[in-house]
Amino acid sequence: MDVVEVKELTKEYYLGKTLIHALQGIDLKIQEGEFLAIAGPSGSGKTTLLNLIGCIDLPTLGSIKIDNTDISDLSSDQLAELRAAKIGFIFQSFNLIPVLSAFENVEYPLLRRKIKKNERKERVMNALKNVGLETFAKHRPDELSGGQRQRVAIARALVSEPKIILADEPTANLDHQTGAAVLEVMRGINEEQGTIFIFSTHDPKVMSLANRIVQLMDGKIVP
Ligand SMILES: Nc1ncnc2c1ncn2[C@@H]1O[C@H](COP(=O)(O)OP(=O)(O)O)[C@@H](O)[C@H]1O
Ligand SMILES: [Mg+2]
Repeated sequence: MDVVEVKELTKEYYLGKTLIHALQGIDLKIQEGEFLAIAGPSGSGKTTLLNLIGCIDLPTLGSIKIDNTDISDLSSDQLAELRAAKIGFIFQSFNLIPVLSAFENVEYPLLRRKIKKNERKERVMNALKNVGLETFAKHRPDELSGGQRQRVAIARALVSEPKIILADEPTANLDHQTGAAVLEVMRGINEEQGTIFIFSTHDPKVMSLANRIVQLMDGKIVP
């Protein structure tokens, strides 16, 4: 079944008076269990596409369906709910909160929900275990390496048990070996828990770990 269905997706931005065609008619279906790379040079539209699939930005034209729901039919509250329930994000620069421990960073997305403290703790420790960091729960981001920080970010994305995790150049700030290890962690979660990962990259070695590669160029999919 298609979990994500994107049709004729178009996104335009105005930069001053110049109209930028960031995406020019993208058609894409993403199914259960996929580990998908969005590849393409800088400026090709990778971030724009991920932000639209993640419902943190809206298209100029075209449609996005998540689990058969057309997101343009949803109110902003419903959209926020869908995002919180089904989508996790991982960013290039990790985006951890520096004054919080690894445990607290991972716990953060659960605080807005009515989940009891014991269950929260279990879920956070489970997520940290999934990324091999259960013994680093008390460490703050500045006491962790880059690869460990990105693994905390993966645990934070994972803790709400989303169906889809979107990762925008998750290895771009890591050295090669560390980046590959982080990708392996993502791949393991994909295989064991069936979480769909959609990640952008321009690193050929990272691309080679995907089970499908969608190549973007100037806002279009290269056939
Ligand atoms: N907020 C914005 N305002 C204006 N132009 C933007 C904005 N975001 C992206 N763009 C432009 O859209 C195009 C695609 O950008 P982006 O999706 O960031 O590509 P990538 O992630 O592949 O580098 C680029 O030309 C970029 O300059
Ligand atoms: Mg980008």
